[in-house]
Amino acid sequence: MRHQVVIVGAGPAGLMLGRLLELAGVDAVIIERKSADYVLGRIRAGVLEQGSVALMDRAQASQRMHAEGLIHHGIELSFDGDSHRIDFSELIGRQVMVYGQTEVTRDLMGVREATTIYEAEDVALHDLDGRPWVTYTKDGQTHRIDCDFIAGCDGYHGVARQSVPQQALTTFERVYPFGWLGVLVDRPPVADELIYAHHQRGFALCSQRSHSRSRYYVQVPADEQASAWSDDRFWDELRARLDPATAEALQTGPSIEKSVAPLRSFVAEPLRFGSLFLAGDAAHIVPPTGAKGLNLAMSDVAALADALIENFVEKSAAGIDAYSAKVLSRIWKAERFSWWMTTLLHTFPETGAFGRRIQRAEFDYLAGSRVAQQSLAENYTGVVTWE
Ligand code: FAD
Ligand code: DHB
Repeated sequence: MRHQVVIVGAGPAGLMLGRLLELAGVDAVIIERKSADYVLGRIRAGVLEQGSVALMDRAQASQRMHAEGLIHHGIELSFDGDSHRIDFSELIGRQVMVYGQTEVTRDLMGVREATTIYEAEDVALHDLDGRPWVTYTKDGQTHRIDCDFIAGCDGYHGVARQSVPQQALTTFERVYPFGWLGVLVDRPPVADELIYAHHQRGFALCSQRSHSRSRYYVQVPADEQASAWSDDRFWDELRARLDPATAEALQTGPSIEKSVAPLRSFVAEPLRFGSLFLAGDAAHIVPPTGAKGLNLAMSDVAALADALIENFVEKSAAGIDAYSAKVLSRIWKAERFSWWMTTLLHTFPETGAFGRRIQRAEFDYLAGSRVAQQSLAENYTGVVTWE
């Protein structure tokens, strides 16, 4: 088998890249370790920046998103029960779209015409600095695909980044001493907009997927097991971290999903090794607080698609040569913002009285400064470093 591009991973990054390439006439196959149902069963991000919305349009996969997605004009920040609304529309004239990663994935799977090979095991990448090829096993048989380029869109634990010789990559990492316990529930959201809440007991987030489905998170220790949390325990803890009026308004019900996600900041540089390009979580991780993970994956593959199309259609290597430096500049800005939001809103075991006062001062500064609010709004809705 031969294809111009092999994409490893059918998460949002791989599926979006595959779609942009197929629309441009570039022949790209996707190989994915799990089944399509498994991929669709993962409950992850929920907020799309305008750039990601525009990319769904470009992918011709946005019909349902525009019909069902919810446009949000702001978020609510709460600190020990005191609330302040950040009004994106009024501050900077921008909005975000609440539309789940599961739905983005489903829509991209739906429009894809080219081949996706699911349940491909033992994926291995070969000759990355020569003429590359990829092997995998399916139904007990080993297959080989020759190609010009490989796109590693296989997430943090994938094989692509691990195939790069260690000395060719520099990694930067911060692991946080906590995770997020998330619950999905078929009840209307507690508020029209998302609420990010700092509380002495820990961070809490009230998010949503639709007018009838909500997503809530509470900060828990990093080694916490979701099974240790009954629904009642979760709702009690969430209520304790919200201001009294919000806690009172919360509509609870049986959870339809409950899981713990660890929090980590991570970047690998550079994002190209020979004919392999890394994109999305394969290259970087942000803590979820700024809602950047999915959006960064989308902006990476937008740049990578343009670079590969330029290579195949215009026969110019300028785009693929510039890819890593171009996307890293945006990645580090999102890393900074996600780290900052995380630091402001969570409780840290090592933070003493001084640190808590600093967090409070940061919140008070935000609440009182239009400039600080504009900065938050600009970063949350997506810093644009290229168009
Ligand atoms: P992924 O979605 O991880 O997709 C990678 C794909 O590659 C997967 O389908 C995987 O099965 C496949 N794969 C892996 N290894 C191989 C292999 N060896 N061979 C073939 N295929 C392979 N972001 C937010 O903004 N908000 C959130 O609330 C949020 N919650 C999250 C919760 C969890 C548990 C995780 C892990 C991430 C969360 N994120 C969140 C981050 C966001 O979901 C990711 O940034 C986004 O999924 C990145 O997309 P991706 O396509 O790069 O990677
Ligand atoms: C969601 C997740 C986030 O990390 C975030 O910042 C906002 C919303 C969500 O899953 O809905």
